[in-house]
Amino acid sequence: MTSVLVIGGAGYVGSHACKAFAQKGWRVTVFDDLSAGSRDAVKWGDLIVGDIADPAAVRGALSARRPDIVAHFAALTSVGDSVSDPGAYYRNNLAGTVNLLDAIAAAGPCPVIFSSTAAVYGVPEQSPIPEDHPKRPINPYGHGKLMVEQVLADFETAHGMRHVALRYFNAAGADPDGEIGETNDPATHLIPIVLHAARDPDFAFSIFGDDFDTPDGTCVRDYVHVTDLARAHVAAAEHLLAGGASMALNLGGGAGASVLEVIGAIERELGRPIPRRLGPRRAGDPPALVASAQKAREVLDWRTTYGLKDIVATAAAWERKTRGL
Ligand code: UFG
Repeated sequence: MTSVLVIGGAGYVGSHACKAFAQKGWRVTVFDDLSAGSRDAVKWGDLIVGDIADPAAVRGALSARRPDIVAHFAALTSVGDSVSDPGAYYRNNLAGTVNLLDAIAAAGPCPVIFSSTAAVYGVPEQSPIPEDHPKRPINPYGHGKLMVEQVLADFETAHGMRHVALRYFNAAGADPDGEIGETNDPATHLIPIVLHAARDPDFAFSIFGDDFDTPDGTCVRDYVHVTDLARAHVAAAEHLLAGGASMALNLGGGAGASVLEVIGAIERELGRPIPRRLGPRRAGDPPALVASAQKAREVLDWRTTYGLKDIVATAAAWERKTRGL
């Protein structure tokens, strides 16, 4: 039976990936320090509570489970916080990952799936964005993720460890069966923020600028359902387990939605208007971030199966179940 060690498997994307791995019949072990993830999200496989910064803890998990593959999700994920506290981001996301990779190399290397991000591209020069687009991150979060991609390449040279770096665009939505979802409190991403505004009249949310060079003036993003992301991890694992080459792949649908389109989709889902106001632009927001998803289609035969309507419906169902709407 394939054994997968899921670092950060108690978090948002990691927990959905655990479900997808378990549905394959694989043995799932979650390693998570529960700093952002939740014990309740570990529904598939065992939980080892530990920190990637602790070499002995990582070594212990590797020798106890002898994974065939490691999927690494553990990271701080707020772009804004990475600007105000870069040390925390480089310590956790870069140094912590180097520590983890050292332990994997020492244990007898196995392939690694790494959660990377569209933030590696910085302000895009073209849209949709292909993987070979120039990488010029504009914040420490993106810099750290890109540095890890380089570290992974160097570990392959030195130790033969193959990897797939999956560059997520905007992860969104919740498990269609309602078993898991996004739990950040306060909400940190657009869709949970708009849902918060829908249930709480005292919560004011702002559209960050409507004067971008986009069809309706608001920022365009490529929202990709978390269950589709989870399936891509299974496909990437199968690729690596079959001896496939290392690579970086964009994970997005290839179609963007503007902030106003997302709000409209949520209003239609809930059947009521959501109060909002117009605020200034947020520093570091590119006008549009849309993936070219061609490479993932070619290599992994992966494509998105959920659209914006499903993303919003599942996110709303999760919000209704966990917080009320
Ligand atoms: N937005 C608002 N108001 C809000 C929150 C967000 O208008 O209150 C807008 C943002 O300006 C942006 C869009 O909604 O245009 C989406 O914003 P999110 O904060 O949900 O997501 P980001 O696009 O900023 O960030 C995402 C991922 C990051 C990743 C980044 C790549 O969450 O992990 O894409 O640039 F790094």
